[in-house]
Amino acid sequence: MPKNVSAGLDRILTLELVRVTERAAVAAARLRGRGDEKAADQVAVDAMRSELNRLPIKGTVVIGEGERDEAPMLYIGEEVGTGEGTEVDIALDPLEGTTICAKNLPNSLAVIAIAERGSLLYAPDVYMDKIAIGPGYPAGVIDIDAPVTENFANLAKAKGVAVAELTACILDRPRHARLIEEVRATGAAIRLIGDGDVAGVIHTTNPDDTGIDIYLGIGGAPEGVLAAAALRCIGGQMQGRLQLNTDDKIARAAKMGIADPNKVYAMEEMARGDVLFAATGVTDGNLLSGVKFGRDSINTHTIVMRSSSKTVREIKAQHQDLEKF
Ligand code: FBP
Repeated sequence: MPKNVSAGLDRILTLELVRVTERAAVAAARLRGRGDEKAADQVAVDAMRSELNRLPIKGTVVIGEGERDEAPMLYIGEEVGTGEGTEVDIALDPLEGTTICAKNLPNSLAVIAIAERGSLLYAPDVYMDKIAIGPGYPAGVIDIDAPVTENFANLAKAKGVAVAELTACILDRPRHARLIEEVRATGAAIRLIGDGDVAGVIHTTNPDDTGIDIYLGIGGAPEGVLAAAALRCIGGQMQGRLQLNTDDKIARAAKMGIADPNKVYAMEEMARGDVLFAATGVTDGNLLSGVKFGRDSINTHTIVMRSSSKTVREIKAQHQDLEKF
């Protein structure tokens, strides 16, 4: 095999994925700032699904809009694609940050990851405790079970800065009151975000631009798997533990093959093998610009990447065939 052609998923799919997130982002962006989360999510789901069904894949949604009885489309287990081609697992969130989009605040995204069949963690729609840093650090700098002070001291040492120069990203939720106190006690700064922890995790991969060194705290498990897929492509370290704190959640997880409710998942266990990840900005953010509607064109900004080659592409597209949207 020539050196630059790696095994795994068909690389044509990398660029095909861009269309999928672009369509979802444009649909959601038309409802940006309208205060209607559900409507924005619904149009994004419809657009993503119809574009996905054009892809030459035998895809199964493993992280989707919810479990079958609660989500009419893109539910966990739904088969998508033309049905011909590679068998793949799909994790998706047609509108990550529905509230952000409804309020027209930064960092809502249309997101998708695909991997070979059986390579993504089948996570139920519960919470996940997460910790993540970007690339360039030795393995083992962070540990989800270590005290905050230890993680911050190790990260500062590895970065070659004082702890006070670090910034953590944390979802602004009452459940994080103690975590926030502990981080502040180290002297580090915190960027509290209202929503959107897929972007929060990805921001750790480029601290020079985003100002974020570490992501911490409890958010959605589906978003955790999507973020792990992104970090597999860009590089970085992440761990997650599902929050299976009721019998019902333990039973739902068991049905998905999760035997140990307390297991800590490494990034590579959440997204294995060759992974493709794409995200298009719906609203403007640190990572991506939001969709821009011009008189004769629509502009989108997408990041698309692949784990086996570690290629990260940014695609700024100008769409002039407006009937397609
Ligand atoms: P939605 O796109 O479903 O609105 O999720 C937004 C989000 O902020 C995620 O990024 C995050 O993982 C999760 O919600 C946190 O959940 P909660 O709002 O219940 O704390």
